[in-house]
Amino acid sequence: MLDTASNRPALPPEIARRRTFAIISHPDAGKTTLTEKFLLFGGAIQMAGQVRAKGEARRTRSDFMQMEKDRGISVSASAMSFDFGNYRFNLVDTPGHSDFSEDTYRTLTAVDAAVMVIDGAKGVESQTQKLFEVCRLRDLPILTFCNKMDRESRDTFEIIDEIQENLAIDVTPASWPIGVGRDFLGCYDMLNNRLELMDRSDRNRVADSIKIEGLDDPKLEEHVPAHLVEQLREEVEMARELLPKLDPQAVLEGTMTPIWFGSAINSFGVKELMTGIGNYGPEPQPQSADPRQIAPDETKVTGFVFKVQANMDPKHRDRVAFVRLASGHFERGMKMTHVRTKKPMAISNPVLFLASDRELAEEAWAGDIIGIPNHGQLRIGDTLTEGESLKVTGIPSFAPELLQNCRAGDPMKAKHLEKALMQFAEEGAAKVFKPAFGSGFIVGVVGALQFEVLASRIELEYGLPVRFEPSQFTSARWVNGDKMAVEKFISANKQHISHDNDGDVVFLTRLQWDIDRVERDYPDIKLTATKEMM
Ligand code: G4P
Repeated sequence: MLDTASNRPALPPEIARRRTFAIISHPDAGKTTLTEKFLLFGGAIQMAGQVRAKGEARRTRSDFMQMEKDRGISVSASAMSFDFGNYRFNLVDTPGHSDFSEDTYRTLTAVDAAVMVIDGAKGVESQTQKLFEVCRLRDLPILTFCNKMDRESRDTFEIIDEIQENLAIDVTPASWPIGVGRDFLGCYDMLNNRLELMDRSDRNRVADSIKIEGLDDPKLEEHVPAHLVEQLREEVEMARELLPKLDPQAVLEGTMTPIWFGSAINSFGVKELMTGIGNYGPEPQPQSADPRQIAPDETKVTGFVFKVQANMDPKHRDRVAFVRLASGHFERGMKMTHVRTKKPMAISNPVLFLASDRELAEEAWAGDIIGIPNHGQLRIGDTLTEGESLKVTGIPSFAPELLQNCRAGDPMKAKHLEKALMQFAEEGAAKVFKPAFGSGFIVGVVGALQFEVLASRIELEYGLPVRFEPSQFTSARWVNGDKMAVEKFISANKQHISHDNDGDVVFLTRLQWDIDRVERDYPDIKLTATKEMM
């Protein structure tokens, strides 16, 4: 059977029903609240508020670390699976703070779509814009939720214009808000000609929808005050004239985003958004790999690691590798090949992240995220196959933007510190460089807050107080070239040379001038700011 939209053979139903996505937003736009409502309507939790522990504002079950609880930020990316209608949703949580952009970037390599949440009063904010750009690099389809419509918000046309202009994407309204702020009543569902009214009495309840026959239906007046009916008719007519119609193919190609208006805290608009993700969101997509692409319906199982999380549960000193399945039907106990080391691996205790509890995954399909507990064999970027030598591509590592020296509070504990740092480097939480000259380590991160997170985790997980101190270096570049050229370069630039945790040669720089000098004096050496994870 051919899938009419893509002209590709239709996927097996178990794969076709999967929707794997992330939520991108600026802090405070309502990502946590929306996640909670997804879980509620997906049957993964019984009652909203369960996700936030009592008395502690702002934390979801997807926040594992003590540090996150203390600060109310989500440092790690985790995955949650739940069913909605005929669909299986895999929601991969992205860290919200801008300091963790590298982690976020990698998370976005594991999803097929993103839900962009914006605050109706604030529009497109800086972090949304940045994350959007990352999605664009991969042509990820984006579905938009304009949140907090129960508060004073901007004019609907203005919001849509802002998205179109700032993000250069066509916006098509899937719903249209009726009234604003305290007068916000609900939305007119533009796709199904339905009236959706908000139930203000119970935040976790969703009022029944009212089917109407277009905007001239007299039933509209029974539910909406006359002045708002008038305004709604005018606005919808204008929207239909001025804004593009929903084109499912353009949504899948990432050139158009449908927008739903709602209020996550009042559970309003969330089900419509979920239905939209099911209907218009992409099925699991082919994965780029070397030497060939992986199609989701291949019978053989393949997957790749996009995230490693150590010490998720302080009681069990385990490491969990988050694996996105790129193809096939995985069953517990399967023997896979770890392509980097060419070693077989029996996956006997995989976990599926069903919202709150980790459960043993008996089976999983292309599109799903499974967790594989391991002792450090699995690293970010690793590919697992049923024997074929395939390497998933497109999972980059970025040059850090901030560097500091790291020392153990107790000099006798240097070896322990090395072990801890290497572990965090493998998790992708930091870059660790061992300078060719001198002792100690240089730690590189993308955002300053990561130093604090690291210090706190090293103390918490290894009982090791550490100090971060300013380094003379400000940036790092990977050194590429043929063996002879690299050796010559190393011996002439020893003060700048270090090795990263994979043993690759890195040039530490103080000023842009250092980089310019290398480019001028060493034509056979190429310095790069990213490297593919091996
Ligand atoms: P984030 O994860 O994107 O950072 O946002 P989060 O869901 O934590 O929401 C940020 C704040 O916005 C929270 O209030 C939350 O209750 C509120 N909020 C979320 N959705 C809506 C909505 O639809 N309408 C209104 N009016 N507010 C909404 P807070 O006071 O910062 O935290 P809390 O005390 O409620 O936990």
